[in-house]
Amino acid sequence: MKIVLLPGDGIGPDITVQAKKILDIVGDKYDRKFQYEYGLLGGVAIDKTGHPLPDETVEMCKDSKAIFLGAVGGDKWDTLPGHLRPEAGLLGIRKALGVYANLRPAILFPQLKSASTLKEEVLGDGLNIMILRELTGGIYFGDKGREGQGMEESAWDVEIYTRAEIERIAHMGFKIARSRGRKLTSIDKANVLESSRLWRTVVKEVAKEYKDVELNHMYVDNAAMQLLRNPQQFDVIVTNNIFGDILSDEAGMLTGSLGMLPSASLGDDNIGLYEPIHGSAPDIAGKDMANPLASIMSVAMMLEYSLDMQKAAEDVYTAVGNVLDEGYRTVDIMEEGKTQVGTNQMGDLVAKAIVQ
Ligand code: IPM
Ligand code: MG
Repeated sequence: MKIVLLPGDGIGPDITVQAKKILDIVGDKYDRKFQYEYGLLGGVAIDKTGHPLPDETVEMCKDSKAIFLGAVGGDKWDTLPGHLRPEAGLLGIRKALGVYANLRPAILFPQLKSASTLKEEVLGDGLNIMILRELTGGIYFGDKGREGQGMEESAWDVEIYTRAEIERIAHMGFKIARSRGRKLTSIDKANVLESSRLWRTVVKEVAKEYKDVELNHMYVDNAAMQLLRNPQQFDVIVTNNIFGDILSDEAGMLTGSLGMLPSASLGDDNIGLYEPIHGSAPDIAGKDMANPLASIMSVAMMLEYSLDMQKAAEDVYTAVGNVLDEGYRTVDIMEEGKTQVGTNQMGDLVAKAIVQ
């Protein structure tokens, strides 16, 4: 089974090492042989080839079963034109693979309750929200441009969705809701945006096929507020590309640290792209400080969605829980009375817990 590793920039390589460590351990335990191939993406690809997404990387990914991606970006490349920035490589690979559905679970481990910025009574028994973000459409991929000069200089990015794009993500949202708490919240800005009005219409139509799922609609500004006021009300959220980008960071922080959040990006053919939702954090790159748990849980999602290894995925989640129970913490989730460990040791601890 071929797995592509795209370490990328900043802490990307640090956490990719830990992701691979977990895959190796799981492979041994379940007697499955993974074959790895490394590809260039982001700033590192710009430095080596002049382009953030070399053709070779696309080919390699298309020819694989699953892809693990570290993180891309950094100050060094911030002055490049938009289409040559590291982020363009990330958007490009998502588009090239057709992975339109981005699953971003925001799960609060009970052990980390006090690391959340919210009060314990707001968090209740814990949080488990699945954010489903549309990933290959909307304003990220609409027409964009810049023209004119002086005070007349203007720039634009077009938010555009087709019915087909909304339908497929809506179906995915209802199916996921069906497999969990049967509640779907569709988030838009239909009081202002035409694209959101189409979104809402189509989601309502698709809902007719899922009568067993409770659907509600929420404006994005209200949703941002509700996530802080009463996060317990959410089960599955489905939303467009840019609202999903913003709300998943917000929901992520409710769980204590962005360093804890994995993601899976899926399309209609079987290739899945797995990445932590945090960024490349260049300031701590190579310092053995990054929290590898988001990456490790992204591997768990890979085992579940692409490799058909449910049992192994559960092992990984259980191992992470056990290591947290034992009091081990990376600096981002460190609290008094706990034991602080670095990236590598955290990876070792989880690996060990998997085979125990
Ligand atoms: C994310 C990131 C990316 C996005 C950036 C790095 C292009 O913020 O995956 O959430 O906006 O999609
Ligand atoms: Mg983001």
